[in-house]
Amino acid sequence: MNSQDKILEEKKRILSKLGYHRISLNERMADAFLKVPREEFVLGNYMDRAYVDTPLPILAGQTISAIHMVMIYISPSCTDPQIGDKILEIGAGSGYNAAMFAEMVAPEGSDNPGHVYAIEIIPELVEFAKNNIEKTGYGDRVTILQSDGGLGFQQEAPFDIISVAAASKTIPPPLLEQLTVGGKLVIPVGKRFYQELVLITRDPDNKYSERNMGGVAFVPLTGRYG
Ligand SMILES: C[S@@+](CC[C@H](N)C(=O)[O-])C[C@H]1O[C@@H](n2cnc3c(N)ncnc32)[C@H](O)[C@@H]1O
Repeated sequence: MNSQDKILEEKKRILSKLGYHRISLNERMADAFLKVPREEFVLGNYMDRAYVDTPLPILAGQTISAIHMVMIYISPSCTDPQIGDKILEIGAGSGYNAAMFAEMVAPEGSDNPGHVYAIEIIPELVEFAKNNIEKTGYGDRVTILQSDGGLGFQQEAPFDIISVAAASKTIPPPLLEQLTVGGKLVIPVGKRFYQELVLITRDPDNKYSERNMGGVAFVPLTGRYG
């Protein structure tokens, strides 16, 4: 079996186990997972573990999230990304999440492709994510920026989805303000080693409704709202 066949088998095995995490997998999510090469977003010495469903170390003491966590974020019961959506991802890290979102909102050949803006605060990781995004062919659908993501990205607001991949003690107000009406914000909120994954929807009357998606453990959000 060649290495691409082996990767495909590993991907299919992971997909078949996502039910354990109560993830309702749809066809677009499965297609995105089959398309994005996670092995290109991990460090070279972790390549053989790219399809183990666990967080893996990247640079600067940070991690690429576990596969099931990425799938929870893009699932219909969470952010439910649609083709054409404009997304703000906070905590670009390796760029993998951003590429997965890109497959959901701007699959190749779509008439009205969306776009992903991914913000990372650590310069070394900004370069890492940019390089990973370019080499895997997502450069036209994903823009990686260096900034403090807690402040959002006013220039491109409002966003249909704001996805935060680092844990905050509170919900940064700029992120609420930068959502479209009907838009969704997902963010881990809580203490250093344990948080609740919170899904917030901006309702048509400009109020916000909140849903708890369960317990998670993310690295901390730093910057103004850290
Ligand atoms: C769990 S990692 C994200 C993994 C990433 N989504 C991926 O696909 O590899 C969390 C990231 O959030 C970044 N981060 C923390 N605070 C931040 C902030 N205020 N603004 C932007 N990025 C931040 C960290 O540097 C780290 O890279």
